[in-house]
Amino acid sequence: MKGIVFNILEQMVIEKAGLVAWDQLLNDVQLDSQGIYTAGKSYPDDEVVALATRASEMLDIPTGDLIKAFGCYMFAQLVERYPIFTDQKTTFFDFLKSVHDVIHVEVRKLYDEPSLPDFKHKQINDTQLLMRYSSPRKFCMLAEGLIAGAAEHYQVKYKLDHRTCMHQGADHCDFLITLEP
Ligand code: HEM
Repeated sequence: MKGIVFNILEQMVIEKAGLVAWDQLLNDVQLDSQGIYTAGKSYPDDEVVALATRASEMLDIPTGDLIKAFGCYMFAQLVERYPIFTDQKTTFFDFLKSVHDVIHVEVRKLYDEPSLPDFKHKQINDTQLLMRYSSPRKFCMLAEGLIAGAAEHYQVKYKLDHRTCMHQGADHCDFLITLEP
């Protein structure tokens, strides 16, 4: 993963739990990078998993919930850095449909060989959108968190049914997203 993801994780941990907690985390996990990340460089995915796993133990939050909370936080940070993507889309569903074909396409121009997932989407009706996620990294909980962040941004309520999951042996995850009144 790119250093920007680690920079945002560091920012979240320091904001929520303090600098001492981040130092403690780095000390406990003992990473090759020593926790020093340059935004545009790539670092092993294992490091993000190790940091999230230890942080979830420290904070006594299940790892999946922590990664989802991180995804939500990361969304707001990405939008702060790249407001153009949300500025261009007026609805939550239009935005979600642009992630694969517009946003991550631009990310490939901004970053050198980023590790990005594959998304396919199918709009079922006005209130239901199916997003199919696949990635060798299986960061579906991060994707769920990013979607939660987008919903906050667009101020919509929704229900997400994670009906098929790569962590249960499938080759993709299906998210059925239903808008709620
Ligand atoms: C709801 C909206 C979004 C979803 C669901 C989403 C999904 C994801 C996921 C799941 C990953 C982790 C890589 C993987 O799973 O293989 C990722 C990486 C990334 N995404 Fe998105 N994304 C969203 C919006 C954005 C936006 C608005 C930006 C802004 C530029 C962005 C930029 C990135 C970057 C920089 C990475 C890291 C690439 C790397 O580490 O090499 N994404 N995205």
